[in-house]
Amino acid sequence: MGNTKRILVTGAVGQIGSELTLALRDRYGSENVVAAGHRSQPSPVLRDSGPFTWIDVTDRSQLKAAVVDYKINTIYHMSAILSAVGEKKPQLAWEVNIDGLTNVLEVARELNTDQVFLPSSIAVFGPETPRDCAPQNTVLRPTTMYGVTKVAGELLCKYYVERFGMDIRGLRYPGIISSETLPGGGTTDYAVAIFYAAVAGKPYVCFVREDTVLPMMYMPDCIKATIDLMEADRSRLSRHADFNIAALSFSASALAAEIGKLVPGFTCTYEPDFRQRIADSWPKAVDDSAARKQWDWQPDYDLPSMTRDMIDRLSERARRGDLPDAT
Ligand code: SER
Repeated sequence: MGNTKRILVTGAVGQIGSELTLALRDRYGSENVVAAGHRSQPSPVLRDSGPFTWIDVTDRSQLKAAVVDYKINTIYHMSAILSAVGEKKPQLAWEVNIDGLTNVLEVARELNTDQVFLPSSIAVFGPETPRDCAPQNTVLRPTTMYGVTKVAGELLCKYYVERFGMDIRGLRYPGIISSETLPGGGTTDYAVAIFYAAVAGKPYVCFVREDTVLPMMYMPDCIKATIDLMEADRSRLSRHADFNIAALSFSASALAAEIGKLVPGFTCTYEPDFRQRIADSWPKAVDDSAARKQWDWQPDYDLPSMTRDMIDRLSERARRGDLPDAT
């Protein structure tokens, strides 16, 4: 197979997958990056800029056929059920997040692929984790099914690395803020929806309390972190699929205030729902010194620069008549 990367992205129509796929196509050649969706329709640019296929990750034979047919040697496994949907459908979260991952790892092992990427999450932490800044090595006792599957996923990846010598890498993503594809079913989704409301000239009703502080990150930093970790010199890495990464940490009211500086008259009110309990079980910030040391991680965006860029991009979409209702 030489050195050419032949990449499969599962969950490619999702919030991160859709932008990650385009970034990977830019970097490794469009024809070398296969986007796999499940049910949602891809955007025209995602569908038309390179190969596109449909995969249900809980069906191992479908996954294997795609890896064989497209001569895949690298899998970014982005399919997942997130925290809020996972609390409504815990069995589905287990099937997609654990059975799906097992299928990816087994197909990768059987077909001897080069690398697998698995996103983990701040949801691996729980109420017993130090709240102000979660250390890299700490108590992992989450109270959501999503968190349970992410802890199990990290451990499963570690097992496959140590038992079978595979190269599997992953990050504990914070809440990801982005302007292209809406997130689906997470607890941190308010930090995206608030921008769509502001740019549409509407007030926003936030589903967590104003003093809720969570770790967050802007999509360009998320893409950079993902690709940089996968390209890092393996001999420098002492960890595998569980790197903490930090960029931003702010309260819901601080975000609303920052948006208000650029969208005069914007108002946000707070009506916490079942997602508050999930948010309260996660830390406010994480210690990412292992990522900084082992693969030189460093974010580019702070709260003001992220906010400005989000407003600019969404305003441009609104001008084109392409701003969906995110509330
Ligand atoms: N954004 C995710 C969620 O809220 C956290 O990984 O579920």
